[in-house]
Amino acid sequence: MKSFLGRDILSLREFERDDYYRIFEVCDMLAPHARNRRNTDLCADKTLLTAFYQPSTRTRMATEAAMHRMGGHVLGFSDAKMTRAGDFYQESIKDTVHMLEYYADVIAMRHFQQGAPAEAARYSSVPIINCGDGWGEHPTQVLTDLYTMLKELGRLDGLRILCVGDMRMRTMHSIGYAATQFDIDLDLVYPPEMAPTQEYLAELDGRNTRVNLFKSVHDCVDKADVIYMEPVVQADYTKARVDAADAKKGLTPPEYQITTEVLKKKAKRGVIVIHSLPRMDELTMDVDSTRHARYWIEAFNGVVLRMALIALVLGKVE
Ligand code: CP
Repeated sequence: MKSFLGRDILSLREFERDDYYRIFEVCDMLAPHARNRRNTDLCADKTLLTAFYQPSTRTRMATEAAMHRMGGHVLGFSDAKMTRAGDFYQESIKDTVHMLEYYADVIAMRHFQQGAPAEAARYSSVPIINCGDGWGEHPTQVLTDLYTMLKELGRLDGLRILCVGDMRMRTMHSIGYAATQFDIDLDLVYPPEMAPTQEYLAELDGRNTRVNLFKSVHDCVDKADVIYMEPVVQADYTKARVDAADAKKGLTPPEYQITTEVLKKKAKRGVIVIHSLPRMDELTMDVDSTRHARYWIEAFNGVVLRMALIALVLGKVE
């Protein structure tokens, strides 16, 4: 296992089994601080900078909350329009990061360009954590998802995960790469225009990961241990910001929708539903009050996971 000290967290492509289990071990160690709402001083001498070039509710605030829980300092921006990267100057990643690296000890970045955090990492002397890059990857979200599966189901090996939604999404890429390290079956359901690329499927196949393609959740939901969801009514993730469409409801065809009725009639009794959120109407609100819903506990796990990652890359735990 590569040391986490000073490591950039850009992609799950190169993560190995031991990396996941080490992060989850540190999560378990730090979780009591979050659960008891008692801050620690583990990172009291460190500063986190959040550079968010795209909107976020969960990822930015969970990352900042994680640093606060560990007694660290936090600064940053959540609207690039109010920086020189978002106005007349359109300041480059290189120039921006050469400034930011002196303001903090770790930088958490979300960007609308795929590869922007990797580019930042080339110029930064402090670790960069990818918090979502265009259609690229979303490692911290998928680490949170896997930690949630492990805590809720007690294992990762042997799981069959039904991924439903837009396969171009960054979470779908990261979960595929994560699946290469476990005995996981992936069943994918998506609208034709939101298909995974052949290169991505070939890469997973080359790493001996079992991927099965289906046209509708109705064809495979009965086999799933986990239902992993993204909307099919999506914003364009290559844009800094997209305003809401006028009509947003009632748009998801039943092939890509999970409702209590579907779970009741077709799913395993113990199946859990995970959604990184925000949702549209692909996951109906009636599911929220069922035993299957696990997307709210993810808010807690998301803070714990970021605590572990920050502590590891800052060398606060070995
Ligand atoms: N899951 C997720 O990435 O949510 P935000 O866009 O609110 O950060």
